[in-house]
Amino acid sequence: MTTTTTTPLLEVRGLHTVFHTEEGAWPAVSGVDLSIQPGEIVGLVGESGSGKSVTGFSIFGLIDPPGEVIAGEVLFQGQDLRSLTEEQMRRLRGNRIAMIFQDPLMTLNPVLRIEEQMLEAIQTHHPEVSRAAALQRCVQALEMVGIPAPASRLRNFPHEFSGGMRQRVAIAIAMLNQPALIICDEPTTALDVTIQGQILYRMQEICRTHGTALVWITHDLGVIAELADKVAVMYAGKIVESGPVAQVLDAPAHPYTRGLLDSLPGAIQPGERLRQISGMAPTLSNRPAGCAFAPRCSRALPQCATAEPDRTVAGGRTYRCFAPLVALDPAA
Ligand SMILES: Nc1ncnc2c1ncn2[C@@H]1O[C@H](COP(=O)(O)OP(=O)(O)OP(=O)(O)O)[C@@H](O)[C@H]1O
Ligand SMILES: [Mg+2]
Repeated sequence: MTTTTTTPLLEVRGLHTVFHTEEGAWPAVSGVDLSIQPGEIVGLVGESGSGKSVTGFSIFGLIDPPGEVIAGEVLFQGQDLRSLTEEQMRRLRGNRIAMIFQDPLMTLNPVLRIEEQMLEAIQTHHPEVSRAAALQRCVQALEMVGIPAPASRLRNFPHEFSGGMRQRVAIAIAMLNQPALIICDEPTTALDVTIQGQILYRMQEICRTHGTALVWITHDLGVIAELADKVAVMYAGKIVESGPVAQVLDAPAHPYTRGLLDSLPGAIQPGERLRQISGMAPTLSNRPAGCAFAPRCSRALPQCATAEPDRTVAGGRTYRCFAPLVALDPAA
């Protein structure tokens, strides 16, 4: 499935996003590089606050003050989204690219029936589609995500769905115009993890059928292990390791990835969530000068406290570490 030779669908290069605070500019995302091939499923994992959602919002051009994207390129099918006007971005969002938000209320309007919201999602981008054809597409989309009796459920309001079903509705809306890329941010509201697994299984099936690329933002490494092609591990605003799922999880290069795996109880199973690694993620006032993970890292060398490791690219894998756990050949 994954090849490194085709033109990426999405290529993020050197993305920096800050939040301006009284204490200074907080670097929420500081140098993210990410490459996604058409049809590829990428799991984006990392602890709370590592910058996963901000990465998603930055790609979608949805960072508002006090937030600001200060550097980087977001190339979608070769076009830099950062150079587009808001109007041009609006034409892409919900059409060629879609995001499913951590807070479903960002997608779903609580006072409108699902039907109206879905019809609008189609007709904003495709006014030529008749109401009857659009309605049929809505029913099919709800069916696809596994909502029983879709035709009658269209008449419901968002609050009439359970948390899991509401997320399926948000996914159905995202799929309506058959986007090339979906970024799905796992909801904060603790949904039953097996439901999350089921939803991702369904998403995987749909994406494989339609050739849709998917970025799945999650704390759940078990589901990623089973369902994603690639994994990207975030720590303190950076992707510290990425690569094909089997290779990264079998033999991680970065001690943080190792820590995430070790903190899982036993073998990784769908539904298991990340546990805490001892120590705290950095804050603005105690941001280390070198590698942000160094204060928590058992392998840290003296240089890790003073210099930030560059990104090493070795074949389809990348890592940022002076003391990697496996020797990967950058020339490979
Ligand atoms: N509106 C905001 N104002 C100020 N800081 C923000 C804002 N949104 C996010 N941040 C900061 O940016 C950093 C990254 O946040 P982000 O929401 O991307 O984390 P996350 O990885 O999605 O975490 P979670 O797993 O909890 O959803 C955090 O330190 C957070 O406090
Ligand atoms: Mg988040």
